[in-house]
Amino acid sequence: MKVLVIGGGGREHALVWKIAKSPLVTQLFCAPGSDAIATFAELIHIPVDDIDRLVSFAKIRAVDLTVVGPELPLALEIVDRFQTIGLRIFGPTRAAAQIETSKVFSKSLMQKYQIPTAKSEVVSLAEAYGKINSIEMPIVLKVDGLAAGKGVVIAHNKDESIEGLDQLKKMSDDTSQIIIEEFLEGEEISFFAVTDGTYAIPLGSAQDHKTIFDGDRGPNTGGMGAFSPSPLVTPSLEKEIMTQVIHPTIQALSKEGSPYLGVLYAGLILTKQGISVLEFNARWGDPEAQALIPRMKTDWVEVMEATLDGRLHEMKIEWKNDGSVCVVLSSGGYPGEYRKGDIISGIEKKMSPQVNIFHAGTKREEGEWVTKGGRVLGISALGKNLEVARDQAYSAIKNIFFDEMHYRTDIASKIIE
Ligand code: AMP
Ligand code: GLY
Repeated sequence: MKVLVIGGGGREHALVWKIAKSPLVTQLFCAPGSDAIATFAELIHIPVDDIDRLVSFAKIRAVDLTVVGPELPLALEIVDRFQTIGLRIFGPTRAAAQIETSKVFSKSLMQKYQIPTAKSEVVSLAEAYGKINSIEMPIVLKVDGLAAGKGVVIAHNKDESIEGLDQLKKMSDDTSQIIIEEFLEGEEISFFAVTDGTYAIPLGSAQDHKTIFDGDRGPNTGGMGAFSPSPLVTPSLEKEIMTQVIHPTIQALSKEGSPYLGVLYAGLILTKQGISVLEFNARWGDPEAQALIPRMKTDWVEVMEATLDGRLHEMKIEWKNDGSVCVVLSSGGYPGEYRKGDIISGIEKKMSPQVNIFHAGTKREEGEWVTKGGRVLGISALGKNLEVARDQAYSAIKNIFFDEMHYRTDIASKIIE
């Protein structure tokens, strides 16, 4: 079968790497992909937001299965557009993807169906400025819509709240709906499940490291590293997450007339009172996928096919018992304005078969790999446990170099120690 993957980051590199192993696949395309992805897939030079051209490509080349990586094409109705003309595509419709693309939608869905989440209210920006005089701090302020992780502010006092609201006003064109949310404390978990809209299978857990510096200091990034599974997610907690969060959410979306098909990602926080949902995403996490996918033994193409055929309940997904750790190498300056075009050395060296290098922002130039993005590479390693996996990842990094290369040295450390 012919498969097309949409996207070109580290998560899509991991997806393409996995999909390329499937004996079901005879031809693999990736749009737009990357020079690193070109090892496994034919690159199609169409950006992820050009839905018209993606539809035409899939139709003309008779693609059997399209797999969506990032959220933007979901918000632009790629799934609806493919389905309308009978093309098979793995991912949620625009309506179902609102669980990620609109925080107001997902909060009100959770409230209506009693899915555990922080208390919150939705107000206008003007009302929010008024409210902060009388609210107990800390609070969390969120703007509706996709904001690439920048639409959330945690404020500890009134001054920070005002600053936060000013910031949200600057970064969004639509500030008609501001969410004021109760601040929760606890360990954050990323939990994944695959669902056909009725049935769901857990894909397991990971933990991301959001800030740029060790010890969770500095500004937030897209994610500086992840490990999987999270030892905090015991089998009994996994059951709880499935019964309290995943199943009720899938049922809620169906009842609302927008059944969800694809990978559902719950961003959870484990508080003293129990699990609570911080957010949902309508896709795999990045860099969580780069840690989680290498643990999957089952053919992911088979799972996606079963999901689309409504026979997910017949599937069993098998996993390696290993721990997996992915450490992100970033460009000097990231998450602010960052350097580009630095020559990367050492990634072609022979590494342990337990190590995979997933490219997030690189390109090939005059026979060299050079940096192109803020997040450059994800060094992902498997090991018999998280400690071994972490040591493997960090020892692989010793071979790699580019000017002003930055990475956190404490990925997975807190949990190991
Ligand atoms: P979100 O995009 O809603 O997941 O928020 C981004 C990040 O902000 C989360 O990963 C948390 O670190 C933090 N955050 C969001 N909501 C809350 C909350 N209610 N309490 C504490 N931290 C939060
Ligand atoms: N790693 C967080 C995300 O993918 O949203």
